[in-house]
Amino acid sequence: MVVVLLNARRHILLLLLAAFSCFSVRLSFGEDRITFSTPVKGSETLLSNNGIFRFGFFTPVNSTGHLRYVGIWYAKVPVQTVVWVANKDTPINNTYGVISISGKGNLVVKDGQNRHVWSTNVTASVSPNATWVQLMDNGNLVLQDNRDILWESFKHNYNTLLPRMNLMTNLKTGENLGLTSWKSYVDPSTGNYTVSLVPFPFPELLTKYNNVTKWRSGPWNGQVFIGLPDMDTLLNIDGLNLNNDNQGMVSLTYANDSFMYHITLDPNGAIYQRDWRPSMNDWRVGVRFPSTDCDSYSRCGPYGSCNPGEDPQCKCVKGFVPRNNTEWTAGNWMNGCVRRAPLRCQRLGNRSGNGGGKRDGFLKLEKMKVPVNVEPSQANKEACPKVCLDNCSCTAYAYDQGIGCMLWSGELVDMQSFLGSGIDLYIRLAHSELKTHSERVLIMITAPVLGVAFAATVCILIACWKFKKRPEPQENRSAEILLQRMEALTSGNEPTSNQANLKELPLFEFQVLATATDNFSLGNKLGQGGFGPVYKGVLSEGQEIAVKRLSRASGQGLDELLNEVVVISKLQHRNLVKLLGCCIEGEERLLVYEYMPKKSLDAYLFDPLKQKILDWRTRFNIMEGICRGLLYLHRDSRLKIIHRDLKASNILLDENLNPKISDFGLARVFQVNEDEANTIRVVGTYGYMSPEYAMEGLYSEKSDVFSLGVIFLQIISGRRNSHKEDNDLNLLAYAWKLWNEGEAASLADPIVFDECFEKEITKCVQIGLLCVQEVANDRPNVSTVIWMLTTENMKLPKPKQPAFIATSGVSEAESSGQSRQNVSINDVSLTAITGR
Ligand SMILES: *[C@@H]1O[C@H](CO)[C@@H](O)[C@H](O)[C@H]1NC(C)=O
Ligand SMILES: *[C@@H]1O[C@H](CO)[C@@H](O)[C@H](O)[C@H]1NC(C)=O
Ligand SMILES: *[C@@H]1O[C@H](CO)[C@@H](O)[C@H](O)[C@H]1NC(C)=O
Ligand SMILES: *[C@@H]1O[C@H](CO)[C@@H](O)[C@H](O)[C@H]1NC(C)=O
Ligand SMILES: *[C@@H]1O[C@H](CO)[C@@H](O)[C@H](O)[C@H]1NC(C)=O
Ligand SMILES: *[C@@H]1O[C@H](CO)[C@@H](O)[C@H](O)[C@H]1NC(C)=O
Ligand SMILES: *[C@@H]1O[C@H](CO)[C@@H](O)[C@H](O)[C@H]1NC(C)=O
Ligand SMILES: *[C@@H]1O[C@H](CO)[C@@H](O)[C@H](O)[C@H]1NC(C)=O
Ligand SMILES: *[C@@H]1O[C@H](CO)[C@@H](O)[C@H](O)[C@H]1NC(C)=O
Ligand SMILES: *[C@@H]1O[C@H](CO)[C@@H](O)[C@H](O)[C@H]1NC(C)=O
Repeated sequence: MVVVLLNARRHILLLLLAAFSCFSVRLSFGEDRITFSTPVKGSETLLSNNGIFRFGFFTPVNSTGHLRYVGIWYAKVPVQTVVWVANKDTPINNTYGVISISGKGNLVVKDGQNRHVWSTNVTASVSPNATWVQLMDNGNLVLQDNRDILWESFKHNYNTLLPRMNLMTNLKTGENLGLTSWKSYVDPSTGNYTVSLVPFPFPELLTKYNNVTKWRSGPWNGQVFIGLPDMDTLLNIDGLNLNNDNQGMVSLTYANDSFMYHITLDPNGAIYQRDWRPSMNDWRVGVRFPSTDCDSYSRCGPYGSCNPGEDPQCKCVKGFVPRNNTEWTAGNWMNGCVRRAPLRCQRLGNRSGNGGGKRDGFLKLEKMKVPVNVEPSQANKEACPKVCLDNCSCTAYAYDQGIGCMLWSGELVDMQSFLGSGIDLYIRLAHSELKTHSERVLIMITAPVLGVAFAATVCILIACWKFKKRPEPQENRSAEILLQRMEALTSGNEPTSNQANLKELPLFEFQVLATATDNFSLGNKLGQGGFGPVYKGVLSEGQEIAVKRLSRASGQGLDELLNEVVVISKLQHRNLVKLLGCCIEGEERLLVYEYMPKKSLDAYLFDPLKQKILDWRTRFNIMEGICRGLLYLHRDSRLKIIHRDLKASNILLDENLNPKISDFGLARVFQVNEDEANTIRVVGTYGYMSPEYAMEGLYSEKSDVFSLGVIFLQIISGRRNSHKEDNDLNLLAYAWKLWNEGEAASLADPIVFDECFEKEITKCVQIGLLCVQEVANDRPNVSTVIWMLTTENMKLPKPKQPAFIATSGVSEAESSGQSRQNVSINDVSLTAITGR
């Protein structure tokens, strides 16, 4: 009836209306509007014309209090489903309440004491008699006069998106229509989650918790958001339509003829799409975001990629390692991963010229959720990789038909690998990380030939160097110059693989390393190695490194350095410390290694407090690990490498106390069939040196086995080799004495000794003694040592008397780390570079 009245001439009829209201006509069920004279009171409600939505006072089901809210809910649904609430944060007590048009034409909610608890708060220009509120068929509550819509619920404070409703952001006008969650299922007050649509650089949906991103949809490509687990699922949402004016206004709507259909943000921050299933008499969830743990924003941290189908879900992208191994293995992935081998432009600072090793390349990851903070580029599909490669800040690119070229700079956050659809993502890596298996094999085969060629090159180079004498004061680019010289020398008739290998030398700029180590400050000093101090450093990306700065004084630095760099940069084994690169600038020569937080074995073994950390199992694992690293050097790496300075301080420990052999400065490359070499220059550390090497300068892999035996006995006993107790016997003699007395197990450090390990300890002592036998040929090789260590109930040969010469004169403590100064034989060394 009211409809009829309003459609007639207003003035007269409004009078009539007023008269009716005087009789306080109770609003009948089925009414869909409120006027100045027909408020809604108590349990009265409005019903939309199509009978689907209802508006009025309600109390959330299951809530314990009696707080009453004004809102809109589905009329025909037996489970209370509220889609909009007016006085979310100002409920009224169970007392009587009224919803009416105020004297100023606003829709207001008043409690029993006639206090305003909520108002549409728009200033209507016409008289209140001329404004009314209507509950539309689509669930929109509209305050209007006969000219304009003054206010509508579709634009205010909702947690539910109904068909044809807008999710919208307009940067120009500051308008922002998004979803805001309830505090809980029984408390409609403003919660901490919001969903909004951001326009730039590409339209994207974001869920936030107190302004912190929790979920993102990935950029819109014109049809779908490309970061959704199964992009097609979104197409299940009917009539999805995104409108983008590319000037900061973007809006998202969907249309479904059925009104029994909505998208809602629940109090836990999850977005649901639901439709009503009469057969089930309940809502059916169609789409849900996030749908897996992996959808949680940045679950695996920077450079971590999440895969919901794997356990653990997070892993570092190839070429990256956990920033903190302890945290990572404990399942705390938040801090993510860091780059293992620095990019070329990181090594060269920001002067990315032409020199300095091979160009970085890209690793292709398929079916990915692209990381956050995409930067658009105008480049076409072919130019996209090049644009990224040419900019040192660019860390990844991807190409999508609808979006075009996408670039990323800085850390890559919130990646996920999908099972179904997804984008191919190309991540920038240092060239050395991209070697395919076949390439690696090729290098190993060509390496022995190369070693010789390279050594010759270096000789010539040193000659040139000395001849030239004065390096220019401006030597910033000296690394590049050095490289160019090498290339010039080798480009003549050598095969191209040779050049390729030289280019692979990872070169750092001095300034980059100085910055990383805080100008080689004392506070960053980790220790003093054989050729100079070692510093801890942090590259700009957060990656921790150890920098060995070769002593300026040592004129012999260059040959060892280049030797070490070429050799080690090719070796990769979990029991070898990884060399990340080097720096040669002016007088400066530096080596950059991966950083080992636990420092070296001797720091534990011989420290009364720390030695407790190494229980017997750990010690056994360390022994086995050292063997495996050494075996790789001797056998597996194709290049036969004799370490020549194996000792406890050269064994570094990683976070999990796995050993890694370091300091290959004295290693020599020689061909595989060459078993023994005679060197004019003896370098190494007394206490670990085999007799044939110390006295005659003869070395072979059996010299390393001797050092290994010494380390074994040290690990078992926790004693240095120069132990002066027990009748002045050194460690080898002491072990030999106990062995002959049948008391080998009592060599063990009392801290680790336990009867259940007695057999194993005895075996290890025996293996140690076998390794330090006087005659090199009697000593087992490393593979045999591993076999003896790991095979149970094996009958081992009886050791012969060890060589005792090792500690004559100089104690290990003095010589260790300063072999150059203290080993007298070394003083007469010549600067021969190859051991031939
Ligand atoms: C109310 O509580 C009952 C029993 O705990 C539960 O089954 C029902 O789903 C709840 N209703 C709502 C709307 O949360
Ligand atoms: C509701 O009323 C009770 C008692 O009258 C009072 O203690 C409480 O604070 C009121 N709650 C609100 C939200 O006004
Ligand atoms: C109504 O709007 C005015 C100004 O637009 C504002 O100052 C006032 O706080 C608002 N009142 C309510 C109840 O929202
Ligand atoms: C609106 O109605 C009230 C009373 O119902 C009346 O006093 C007032 O004059 C009316 N205003 C207009 C503009 O018609
Ligand atoms: C919302 O965030 C605030 C501030 O961080 C916090 O105090 C409150 O407990 C949060 N509420 C819910 C329901 O999580
Ligand atoms: C979220 O950010 C907006 C704008 O930056 C600010 O107005 C609002 O107070 C912030 N909210 C919270 C809970 O921090
Ligand atoms: C509306 O949604 C229902 C339920 O998902 C679906 O069956 C129907 O086809 C949709 N209608 C249109 C016009 O998309
Ligand atoms: C790694 O994380 C653990 C636990 O948070 C912490 O104690 C340790 O200091 C961290 N290690 C490094 C190297 O930051
Ligand atoms: C390169 O330059 C950028 C910005 O100019 C700076 O943030 C970055 O730290 C620089 N990188 C290095 C390794 O110096
Ligand atoms: C490289 O990329 C950064 C970050 O996207 C950008 O700010 C800078 O302008 C780019 N540099 C060049 C030379 O294109």
